[in-house]
Amino acid sequence: MDKVRLGIIGLGNMGSGHIQHLKAGQVPRCELAAVCDIDAAKLKKYPDVKGFTDSAKMIRSGLVDAVLIATPHYFHTTIGIDALNNGLHVLTEKPISVHKADAMRLIAAHEAHPELVFAAMFNQRTDPHYIKIKQLIEQGELGKIQRTNWIITTWFRSEAYYRSGGWRATWGGEGGGVLLNQCPHNLDLFQWLCGMPSAVTAIGGIGKYHDIEVEDDITAMFEYPNGATGVFVTTTGEAPGTNRLEIAGTRGKLVCEGGRLTFTRNEIPADEYSKNTKSSFGVPSVWNIDIPVGGGNGEQHIGIKKNFVAAILDGAKLIAPAEEGLHSVEMANAMLYSMMTGKRIELPLDEKKFEAHLKKLIKSSTFVKKDTVKTEVDFAKSQA
Ligand SMILES: NC(=O)c1ccc[n+]([C@@H]2O[C@H](COP(=O)([O-])OP(=O)(O)OC[C@H]3O[C@@H](n4cnc5c(N)ncnc54)[C@H](O)[C@@H]3O)[C@@H](O)[C@H]2O)c1
Repeated sequence: MDKVRLGIIGLGNMGSGHIQHLKAGQVPRCELAAVCDIDAAKLKKYPDVKGFTDSAKMIRSGLVDAVLIATPHYFHTTIGIDALNNGLHVLTEKPISVHKADAMRLIAAHEAHPELVFAAMFNQRTDPHYIKIKQLIEQGELGKIQRTNWIITTWFRSEAYYRSGGWRATWGGEGGGVLLNQCPHNLDLFQWLCGMPSAVTAIGGIGKYHDIEVEDDITAMFEYPNGATGVFVTTTGEAPGTNRLEIAGTRGKLVCEGGRLTFTRNEIPADEYSKNTKSSFGVPSVWNIDIPVGGGNGEQHIGIKKNFVAAILDGAKLIAPAEEGLHSVEMANAMLYSMMTGKRIELPLDEKKFEAHLKKLIKSSTFVKKDTVKTEVDFAKSQA
């Protein structure tokens, strides 16, 4: 096999963006072999490619080696399982599933077919800033991590956005709000860089800034197994918003904000200084380092697709194995569960309890969506 025949499922904002990349030849050795959407009108935009309104038929057509799933979230699980069970490689959009129990079902389907490549569209893992932070942490430059903090409130969304699709911002259609749609990227990076917390406590708001039935505001506190603490703040209701990641360790502090990565490095690690200094109020001297990071924001969606193709054709290591998508789902579920129950949630999250909680929300929903409106979405700007 010298090229991958890819089928794209879901031809909305993101699916059509992926198609643009393929059509522009930005993903070498990958051919757009088929497209699928339950909305037949969307197939007409691609008259030169075989179209399907049923993903099951595309999966069994023999026309594709792999699928990219860009549908509303619940279908990532069902279509992903169907594709893996039928011998296709799968690249799924984020989140890999709506809730942990579904993510485990999807991962189990891959475990039954380990020969298949199964990746997730965590495009922000290609951003050189985060790659550099990961390197610095792994090399021990920060020492022991003591505190993490991510304020990510640049996900502002309007009422028109929430009305742009019937599935959006509903328990039954999307399964959650800002934690599940916009934040999977940040939560994935957060756990990729700093590891998983062992407990989560959150406050926030359901439909606080928008006419929606899901969360659009969260402030969460994390406890990590090594005793470190963390804070995660997000909303779709604040403008201009902030995107500031700060990680403090015994050897210094890393800050990533506004495209700049800075490292304030302690000349002597803080714990060592504290033990040995005779001074009551002294602090370690620091070096202020602006870490040069070239390459803009990296290859993003194109990079993940290229890596998926290379994994299939050359056995390349995946940038974002889908299995790792379980963590961001679990963190999102735990924060929502804590916020709605007022409880501190220990991880691993009880997936059955959370699934039952979500089912209850779906069943008891009385929310009526206002008219769906057509909006202009620039997927490259939306990033989630
Ligand atoms: N990685 C990113 O940066 C990024 C950016 C935007 C969206 N996304 C993700 O992409 C996915 C789609 O989001 P969107 O904004 O494109 O939504 P959208 O509503 O614009 O498009 C979804 C499309 O899926 C189709 N669809 C629904 N159910 C289907 C089914 N069972 N089979 C086939 N087609 C089906 C709909 O008709 C629609 O055309 C979501 O998972 C979202 O989180 C990722």
